Amino acid sequence: SGMKRLVVVSNRLPAALKHEDGRWTVKQGAGGLVTAMAPVLRNRGGVWIGWSGAAEPDVDVEGLLSDFSAEAGYELCTVPLTRQEVDDYYYGFSNEIIWPLFHDLQSRCRFHPRYWRAYLDVNFKFAEVVARRTTSDDYLWIQDYHLMHQAFFLKSMGVKRNTGFFLHIPFPTPDIFMKLPWRWKVIQALTEYDLLGFQTMQDRRNFVRCLRRLMPETRVEGRGAAVTVRLGNRSFRLGAFPISIDYNQFSELAGREDVARKAFELKEALRHRKIILGVDRLDYTKGIPERIRSIQTLLKRYPDLKGRVNFVQIAVPSREEVGEYKDLRQEIEQLVGRVNGEFSIPGWVPVHYHYRNLPVDELVAYYAAADIALVTPLRDGMNLVAKEYCACNNSEDGVLVLSEFAGAAAQLQRNAYLVNPYDMDGIAKALHRALHWDRDERHSSMSKLRDQVRRNNIFWWVDSFLQAGIAKTLGDFPEV
Ligand code: UDP
Ligand code: G6P
Repeated sequence: SGMKRLVVVSNRLPAALKHEDGRWTVKQGAGGLVTAMAPVLRNRGGVWIGWSGAAEPDVDVEGLLSDFSAEAGYELCTVPLTRQEVDDYYYGFSNEIIWPLFHDLQSRCRFHPRYWRAYLDVNFKFAEVVARRTTSDDYLWIQDYHLMHQAFFLKSMGVKRNTGFFLHIPFPTPDIFMKLPWRWKVIQALTEYDLLGFQTMQDRRNFVRCLRRLMPETRVEGRGAAVTVRLGNRSFRLGAFPISIDYNQFSELAGREDVARKAFELKEALRHRKIILGVDRLDYTKGIPERIRSIQTLLKRYPDLKGRVNFVQIAVPSREEVGEYKDLRQEIEQLVGRVNGEFSIPGWVPVHYHYRNLPVDELVAYYAAADIALVTPLRDGMNLVAKEYCACNNSEDGVLVLSEFAGAAAQLQRNAYLVNPYDMDGIAKALHRALHWDRDERHSSMSKLRDQVRRNNIFWWVDSFLQAGIAKTLGDFPEV
């Protein structure tokens, strides 16, 4: 099975085209999917099929990406999208319907039928490229909510492939999933894969509950990491595979001399006060306004902390064309201003806010410098920032304060400080306590967190998924 060529298919490629200062440049894409999958392909080789991140760019895209591809050691293949497709399939269906709905935020959804049609059209377009660029010897690994219909369209074209699908975001409960006008077609399309992977057992359970509601003939067999689902005479495999990071890469980067120096400079610039760090794409699922309010509560309730602690928030630009994201940015920037206005004294500003995508060595320096990582999403499939912070904390001196609604909490709950992201008083109290943990407490928790992330790293994740996916599904295709 190690001989099969790996073909990864995702909406976003690891390299994204950006138009800046009148010319096209290639940048590493932001977000957990790219961070997690890039080392997989670097390690195994193969092909990555996806969108370049630009609508109808007037350049030779494959030419621009060829340097990246040569250096990375695997092939990139782009699926071009029109402006309209980007608007309706990517911003529309993917990010104004599935993204909010699957994160339990149904009031942020816009259920336009036009978005659904564009989603189907673009999935068909992707499937045509996938069919053309692959053979039946390849293993096709489809990533995330933008492309749930790949197996469905490949089969409808009579193209036989061994397929696996991994959902990076949560899968909601039936109460929420049933609100989707196209719920039956979506769940049906997901059952066309040979293997379906979710982040946590909770997501897997939610999926089975939805499936049972919509397809009463559902039977689940077996137990353990992956089970078999039977629907009449068809079957597919189903599992929970918590995604992770390249632990060694992050830990080694944090230990590099220039990065360690940079971390020291950051601490110096903040006059060696305690640093509480938040790092997120600027997204309403991340609980950033709630987090800033909890810092406000912290400073109000514990006035002795004034002048002695800094909160640093890195907010990475994301999906800026969606109205909800524009509004959120304004809200966050106003809140930062308000808290700083309320508490600043000469020589001390409590909140340091950065709105940009950092190069990875700079990001790692922030991780290494921080005394506390404050990771408080309202809902998150996994949250890799939590794992990256642990991997970079080589001094084993930091504390991870983590939302109980992040997928990562299922693995890290015993040694992270769990909080409810909506509970401002609770977070303030947790921070106050964590700031007073002694060296032994910090060391004992952090070393266990690091063991967990080191063992269950991205290569462990790949092996467990591919083992479940390539092992014995090849004979299972129904004749078309
Ligand atoms: N990240 C980034 N640029 C930055 C800061 C962070 O690309 O300036 C990365 C970070 O290293 C992490 C990812 O963005 O790998 C965020 O992943 P996570 O799973 O936490 O959330 P997602 O953005 O996928 O919802
Ligand atoms: C999340 C999603 C990914 C997505 C990433 C960044 O991690 O699960 O599929 O790539 O966010 O978002 P973007 O819309 O820029 O690709």
